[in-house]
Amino acid sequence: MKLYIIFIVILLIIGGLMAFDIFNKEIKAPNVSAELQDEVENSPLEITGKVPDWLSGTLIRNGPIKVIVNGQSNAHWFDGLAMLHAFSFHSGNVTYSNKFLRSEAYYTVFSKGSINYRGFAVDPCRSIFRKFLTFFIPNSHLTMQNANVNIAKLADQYVALTEIPLPVKFDPHNLETIGILNYQDELPKDKCWESAHPHYDNEEKRTLNYLIKFGRTSYYSLYGLEDGSPERKMIAEVPVEAPAYMHSFAVTENYIILTEFPLVIKPLDLILKNRAFIENFTWQPQRGTQFLVIDKKNGNVIGKYVTKPFFAFHHANAFEKDGVIHLDIVTYKDGSIITGESLYVNSDKAPSDNFHSKLERFSLFLYNGEITSNVLLSKSNEFPRINEKLDGKPYHYVYLAGFNDKAENKKEWLRGERLYKINTATKKVIEWSEKGCSPGEPVFVCAPTALEEDDGVVLAVVLDHIHKNSFLLILDGKSFKELGRARAPHPIPAGFHGQYFE
Ligand SMILES: [Fe+2]
Repeated sequence: MKLYIIFIVILLIIGGLMAFDIFNKEIKAPNVSAELQDEVENSPLEITGKVPDWLSGTLIRNGPIKVIVNGQSNAHWFDGLAMLHAFSFHSGNVTYSNKFLRSEAYYTVFSKGSINYRGFAVDPCRSIFRKFLTFFIPNSHLTMQNANVNIAKLADQYVALTEIPLPVKFDPHNLETIGILNYQDELPKDKCWESAHPHYDNEEKRTLNYLIKFGRTSYYSLYGLEDGSPERKMIAEVPVEAPAYMHSFAVTENYIILTEFPLVIKPLDLILKNRAFIENFTWQPQRGTQFLVIDKKNGNVIGKYVTKPFFAFHHANAFEKDGVIHLDIVTYKDGSIITGESLYVNSDKAPSDNFHSKLERFSLFLYNGEITSNVLLSKSNEFPRINEKLDGKPYHYVYLAGFNDKAENKKEWLRGERLYKINTATKKVIEWSEKGCSPGEPVFVCAPTALEEDDGVVLAVVLDHIHKNSFLLILDGKSFKELGRARAPHPIPAGFHGQYFE
């Protein structure tokens, strides 16, 4: 009789766990595939050439992986599932690990066998009433976002970032997802938008970022997060009638600068129109692009300065000199690269001239409000990186990925085809390229004994279309010549951003 009761109790426990989806978490639905599905841990890589002995940290990269469920794929490139890739260096050797972030979107795909997760360009919540409710009623639980854009170290935690809070913590040693980085403060944790490109303020030992709070009155809320603290402290709150879509921002010694492109949203449209997030933004070139300059210390708005309309994802750097703020930005003629079909995975629309990008320097004369612009690099480029020690300070060198200006179809256009190093003072450009190879974002790592700005190496993951795999390329930061390469065990699809950690 006793055994019978124990058996019933065990059955009830198992039934309860199944009801809460515990066992489902790691079961992969058979109707699901991904452009990269293998996950490896600490796999030693074959090296060609030489990896500098002083490299002893880890490059961790993030990016979207296209998934296919019942023949249907994520509609937009930005909505692929987040996957982390880690290249660890030790005594001239390199090991590699990769893992999907275990987000709610991941479980929607791999456990439920569904592609219907909310993303940048997709919103399965098609009922206006439900949308209204979800917007105004606080969430009972915080969502583990599909954080596929960037990596950072915040509040002493390694996190994956996207443009919706909150960051997702992971273990840098095995890339296991740990959970949400839950801030201990009163700033919003959902129903808002933020940049996945925070800056580190080396003087104040804090990370700077901004939120866009949507509401009857919307606000840009700039905040600082001190090292080791989970509390975001407000620096400034600037009311805004029509918030702009801004993927990144700039800092200088004294200022935080928000570059408000004329790609703007009426916040009410977010709930009253049946559209995905990005589809609510409209291009209004008559507004021009506005630089909103805010004092980093006291949060005062120094001024609003309007120039020609343009769009950008990335600021390369900014600095002050003799009363002038210089901002180096990878610019596009308009916002059609993000609002149009170009980044939808199944669209093969030919690239338009408006998708051509260039690196431009805007010089903002604070004493009279005049703004000049000067093209530093006219060939299509993206993913600008610098020596991070000079973030917000006078500097010379930007490293970028170069794209095919003459591409006739989208597939060719999306393939990076070279890397650039440009001296912003002389406009001298050095290139690296190899036939059939598509390099991604070039990450500069400063040498421990560096005497000059470009003493170090540049690390870039390269997709090798000929050998059908990928390798980590190591270039000398000064000469831009190859030092070595480490071949990965599988092709790594084009990603977004990565960071090197000592
Ligand atoms: Fe970005």
